[in-house]
Parts: sequence; structure tokens; C-alpha cells
Amino acid sequence: MTITKIGVIGAGQMGNGIAQVCAVAGYKVTMVDIIPEQLEKAKKTIEGSVNKLHSKGKLTDEQKQNAFSNIASSGDMNLMKDMDLVIEAATENKAIKKDIFKKLDEMCGPEVIFATNTSSISITELAAVTKRPGKFIGLHFMNPVPLMTLVEVIRGLNTDDEIVNTTTEIIKKLNKVPVEANDYPAFIANRILCPMLNEAVFCLMEGVGDVEAIDTVMKLGMNHPMGPLFLADYVGLDTTLAVLEVLFEGYKDPKYRPSPLLKKLVSAGQYGVKTGIGFYDYSSGKPVPRKFR
Ligand code: 3HC
Repeated sequence: MTITKIGVIGAGQMGNGIAQVCAVAGYKVTMVDIIPEQLEKAKKTIEGSVNKLHSKGKLTDEQKQNAFSNIASSGDMNLMKDMDLVIEAATENKAIKKDIFKKLDEMCGPEVIFATNTSSISITELAAVTKRPGKFIGLHFMNPVPLMTLVEVIRGLNTDDEIVNTTTEIIKKLNKVPVEANDYPAFIANRILCPMLNEAVFCLMEGVGDVEAIDTVMKLGMNHPMGPLFLADYVGLDTTLAVLEVLFEGYKDPKYRPSPLLKKLVSAGQYGVKTGIGFYDYSSGKPVPRKFR
């Protein structure tokens, strides 16, 4: 199965990163988003990232050129009908994703492969809204996509072996390492990561430490590149909460219950870096730890 054209649904932080790495690897990419400003922002993000990686010698001249010439962006989802593979990277919301895949299933020929970049939602359940569960797979990229090497490859109950093999080869062509995970809530990466982030929020809520103390302990004590509260802000508190809710709902185990403080911030629309405020305040241009009572 030859893949040359890749569609990306959603131009947010994951979608634009996926579009970038696919274009750099030589695929023709069409990135679609219903919000025009999001597409403009995505183009600037890709330009900045590609120029930075090129100036550091991490991308060749050809790869830089690929990134700039291989990405088309549009608000028209109908363009997906001409793709070989469509990767959905919309908001982490089951209803939104199901709606997108129902529409895609109607417009795309039966040979088109569907992938979702969901952080936690069942691949089998999303595949079931389409007539092609054999051609449906989870490809879970990590943030920031251009720098992180891992991609979880998640087979749904009915995913064909051929689709696993084809998408695994694509991931390798992107210079990333595919790791297969089974379809259980939040797979491997977020099953382990998000409870750790949640525990950090409980520590903060209970006053065990303040934002700076908690992040410093994990950075200096465990050599994590980012403290858990900073990482939660970076991933997005809305996404972190959504993953925890999938875990809590999926296992009905209280160990996954989201921290009330995390819920409070999300209720207030404070999602972290993307909204300029979360556990840190980014309004001054650099992250300032907030005080919580
Ligand atoms: N493209 C190009 N360059 C980038 C970039 C991008 N997207 N993002 C950051 N950089 C650059 C920075 O600008 C910086 O450049 P400089 O050296 O010229 O200043 C350089 O990379 C290094 O960045 P930092 O100085 O900020 O510091 P780090 O050494 O900490 O590296 C990091 C950044 C690789 C992001 C590192 O902090 C890290 O690995 N953090 C953890 C990330 C992580 O855990 N990701 C997974 C999140 S979970 C997930 O994604 C799953 C989802 O479903 C929730």
C-alpha cells in the first residue's frame, strides 16, 4: 500500500506538529481546521519550528524545503477524500471525534486509512462509527511532536495487520519510534503519565508543596525535563482532565479520580500554556508559578 498524501484534521498543537513531521519526511500534507485563525497560527508555528531545527543542523536544506512546499491548509474537510491516510488530531472529545469520523467515512473511498491521535479514547469505539474498522488505527504522537521520538501505535479490536504494518513504516519514515499498545483506556503513555500529573495536583491542593516545590522535586530529584505541573500546563489542563476522565470511567477505579483543583482550573477556562494561565501565569512572557490555597 503506497501512501503519498496525508490529511491532518485539526491545526492545534498536535495537528500542526504532525503536519510538520509528515511534510519534512516528504509526504504531501493537507491540514484542515474549521477555525481560520488556528490555521494561520499553525503556519507560523511550523515556520518557527522548522527554521529553528534547520538553524541547529537538525533538518537538512531539503527537509526544510519539504516542510514549506508540502503543506496545504484549508477549512474544507472535503479535501480529505483525495488522501491516502487521514490523521485526526481534533480536541480530546469523544463526540467531536465520532462526528468527524462519520463525516470522513461518508466522503472518503473505502481504501483510505483513518488514524486518530487520541490521547485516551477507545480506538475500537471510534472505529465502530465507520464502515472501515479494519482500516482504522490509533497513532498517538507526543508533544512537542517535532522533538519527541515516540509514537504509540494502537490497534483497535478489528484493525487489520496490514494497516498496522503500513502505519508503522510511515512512523519510521518520520524518524520516530513506533511502539505498539493495546486498546485499553489511555493506552500506555497516558495511563502512566496522567495519574502522575494528577498526583502532583493533589499534592498542591493539599498543601504538601507549592507549584515551584513540586516541580523542582521532580526535575532535580527524578531528572524529569519538566516538572509535572509545568508539563500539565504544557499538555493542556483540558486534555489532562479529559484523559483522567476516560481512565476513571474506563476502569471505575478511584485511583484515577481527577483532582478537584484540576477540575476547578479547567472550569475557569485556565488550560495552561494555550490560554496563558494554568499552574503558571504566562502573561509576562515567562512562566510565573501561581499561589493556590
Ligand atoms: N520545534 C522546534 N524546536 C523546539 C520546539 C518545537 N516544537 N519546542 C521547543 N523547541 C526548542 C526550544 O525553543 C529550545 O531551543 P533553544 O535551545 O534554541 O532555546 C530547545 O528546543 C530546547 O527547549 P528548552 O530549552 O525549552 O528545553 P528542554 O531541553 O527542556 O527541551 C523538551 C524541551 C524536549 C520539550 C523537554 O522539556 C521535554 O522533553 N519535556 C517533556 C515533554 C513531554 O513529556 N512530552 C510528552 C507529553 S505527554 C503527550 O504529549 C501525550 C498527550 O496525549 C497528552
